[in-house]
Amino acid sequence: MNVHSQLTHSLEARYYTDPDHFKREKDGLLARTWQFAGHISQLEKPGDYFTVDIADESIICLRDREGVLRAYYNVCQHRAHQLVQGEGNTKLLVCPYHSWTYELTGGLRSGPNVRAVPGFDRSKICLTSVRIEDFCGFLFVNLDPDAKPMDDWFPNVRKELRAFVPQIDRLKPLEWVEIAENCNWKVSVENYSECYHCPINHPTFATGVVKPETYDIQPQGYCLRHTTECQNLERMTYDIDLEANEHAGDYSSWFLWPLFSFQVYPGNILNTYHWRAVDVDHVIVWRGWYTIDGVDSETIRRLAVQDRSTTVEEDIYLVEAVQKGLRSRGYKPGPLVLDPACGVNSEHSVQALQNWMREA
Ligand code: FES
Ligand SMILES: [Fe+2]
Repeated sequence: MNVHSQLTHSLEARYYTDPDHFKREKDGLLARTWQFAGHISQLEKPGDYFTVDIADESIICLRDREGVLRAYYNVCQHRAHQLVQGEGNTKLLVCPYHSWTYELTGGLRSGPNVRAVPGFDRSKICLTSVRIEDFCGFLFVNLDPDAKPMDDWFPNVRKELRAFVPQIDRLKPLEWVEIAENCNWKVSVENYSECYHCPINHPTFATGVVKPETYDIQPQGYCLRHTTECQNLERMTYDIDLEANEHAGDYSSWFLWPLFSFQVYPGNILNTYHWRAVDVDHVIVWRGWYTIDGVDSETIRRLAVQDRSTTVEEDIYLVEAVQKGLRSRGYKPGPLVLDPACGVNSEHSVQALQNWMREA
């Protein structure tokens, strides 16, 4: 990477504090990127559906009767009432306003008295589709009909993820932890994307889970790939079987720009970060923990609690202090610490991230 042609100082504070800027992000960036919607286990049977809010839009994700995954804007093509709420299983989508009824493939099937309308052509009326992809069981949608597929955005990630989590197709969510942070989503995402702060701020993570001196983060398309070795076994806070498979002893994470990350802890333990940007200075971070078939696991539950009470808790103080600082008259964007050798004490990953932010 040629660091000289790129940004070498942190972004101007207004990117993180200006409500108009946030609105532009919602209409632009968040509507043009792949956004996490849910897990495939929510759409197991034909007719299963759930709704999710993306960039201020309600979206329906469903599995049609032929088993195809589909997503639509949750809006009736008659006079714009919302079609469904929450989640469930259905054979048809029936609008609660005047009972116009749609097939799960999107087409209008019937509506009371529509035949009275001269020339009414129901084949011309169809729900508005949204792009949906199944990424190793994780469902993402993109409101941009021309968006490139996820494999173009995040090259090799599917393959690497499968190597690190061989059982990924059998995973189901076991536990969700919701964390509210009083900061702009970019402050939280930047904090996640560098480990320059880890040795000082995350003693448990840095001494009980990974070896910080081996930590590195590299861009891979619009993914930031984190790699490190796990801590010496006697210092680990939980037991793992290093012989189980090739990556049993490794830590890695794949941050998918802009608001999602897959993280694998030693022992092939998959957990996810999902940031939901609420407004210019509030973000909610959802931490998801998964096990095979969703079977209860003492280790995972303990790990989720340990993670919440150490790394996550430690980060809340950092990001909220930064958000305050960004509002200070006394702050001028400082230089990023860009070490050509990269490694744990370099902020080249923040530079990549801020370039994507600027470009967006
Ligand atoms: S708005 Fe849906 S049927 Fe009228
Ligand atoms: Fe952190």
